[in-house]
Amino acid sequence: MNTIKQVWDWLEHRLELRDSLWPVMRHPVPAALAKPVGWWYVFGSMTLTLLMLQIVTGVCLAMVYQPTSADAYASLEYLNYEAPFGWLLRAIHYWSATGMVVMLFIHMSQVFLMGAYKYPRELTWVVGVGLLLMTLGLAFTGQVLRYDGDSYWGVSVAVAAAGRVPFLGPSIVHFILGGEYIGSATLSRFFTLHVFILPGLLLGLLVVHLYLVVKRGISEPPVPDEPVDKATYHEKYEQLLEKGIPFFPHALYRDGVACAIAVLVVVGMAVIFGPKGPGEIPDPTLIHAEPRPDWYFLPVFALAALSPPSMEAFLMLGLPVIGILALIAVPFVAGTGERSARRRPVAVLTVLVTFVTLLILGWYGATSPWSPDMEAWSGAPVPDDIVAELSPLELQGAVVFQNKCCRNCHALEGSGGHRGPDLTYVGARMNHEAMVRQVVQGGGNMPAYAQQMNSAEVEALVAFLVKLRPEGIPPAAVPSAVAEPLSAAVKETP
Ligand code: HEC
Repeated sequence: MNTIKQVWDWLEHRLELRDSLWPVMRHPVPAALAKPVGWWYVFGSMTLTLLMLQIVTGVCLAMVYQPTSADAYASLEYLNYEAPFGWLLRAIHYWSATGMVVMLFIHMSQVFLMGAYKYPRELTWVVGVGLLLMTLGLAFTGQVLRYDGDSYWGVSVAVAAAGRVPFLGPSIVHFILGGEYIGSATLSRFFTLHVFILPGLLLGLLVVHLYLVVKRGISEPPVPDEPVDKATYHEKYEQLLEKGIPFFPHALYRDGVACAIAVLVVVGMAVIFGPKGPGEIPDPTLIHAEPRPDWYFLPVFALAALSPPSMEAFLMLGLPVIGILALIAVPFVAGTGERSARRRPVAVLTVLVTFVTLLILGWYGATSPWSPDMEAWSGAPVPDDIVAELSPLELQGAVVFQNKCCRNCHALEGSGGHRGPDLTYVGARMNHEAMVRQVVQGGGNMPAYAQQMNSAEVEALVAFLVKLRPEGIPPAAVPSAVAEPLSAAVKETP
């Protein structure tokens, strides 16, 4: 006993934890938190606890996981079926990620509805938005590491979105993929993001977030008709704290209970439902597959799948940016005034509409088929006047084009699907290599055909596509250009 005390004293003499940490633990919080309303304040801690669980399980998983396209899948199978408790680690990591996203959304909604982001806690909210982005980034990159069919498509869609960034698009795509194709280089990039960069940024932001939570104090439960006024807030809050209760143990014990429940539920789900996937081996023959992202990205997925092609660029790139900016703007637009949800119908409505929209989109994303209806154009042969002047190789390509039902999504001379661009003049705006890549790898809502065609078929098909251009126009020299402006350019060419 005595030695323990000696060791403790020795440490204490050097660390002085009692001086630095104890006051933090005992800092006063509004007395109202001792009432049942205090239970509303536990969601942040629950998110934090699940993050810890993610770090612990993640470190264990990283010891086994192989971020290469050859071994990733096998290493997950190894974890699932051979490594002792490997399946449980994977399952906890997955369910805890799920829980973390859920708790984060609840935490944000609570902070928003209770007006806790208002003066003087604007910065806490803004840093919180950063934490949200990091968490979603981790969720996405983690899903990619699973490297099954769904993850392959997740990357395809993300890359398609990134490719639409003005000017920088192609470079960003190259950077993300580590080349032209989704492969080992892509995986090791996502691995680096998932285990170093994003967690690093997240922990950095988290330190600031928690510092601010302690520094600015926990917001008092809102009372209707007691608006936040910058001139008087500090004084009122100080008075509240004078009658306050110490954080530990009066408020912290609720956090403890809630966090224990969170961990129990996550572990329970993990044991009952087991790990997620990996699904089928990544196989770009996906025209008949129905890939699904993890549930938190289903709404985004639905947006991408349902939107008309002309809106996709905006929905994939514009909407997220607008959403993030709107979140950041919240405390600056409504930083003072009423905090109680009873006096803020617009705020309540915003939360309701947001969640209902996400639910509906998510439901759509989970149930609607990815590919468009496949009857209408399936059998339609390539128009006669196009076929007329083709060489045998190109003719063979025309047959491939017909057999693979490209016209489900692409029109020729105006007839066919409109999911992808009209291909009547594609040879004039896209060069040989870019077409090979488009067909083999897909992208931007187009399935990849790598496994569905042998290289002779691809060669013939692309020879045919190159031929699709107006008379007198040479094959395109550029990798690819946007459909509309180029058809205009074609007209200008003498
Ligand atoms: C499920 C629908 C779908 C099917 C089936 C499909 N595509 Fe596509 N395709 C698209 C979409 C969507 C785009 C636009 C991609 C983008 O925005 O990056 C596209 C783009 C292209 C492009 C680039 C056109 C341009 O102007 O940028 C070519 C070439 C192409 N597809 C060829 C084919 C061929 C050949 C087949 C059949 C083997 C085929 N596609 C089947 C949806 C489809």
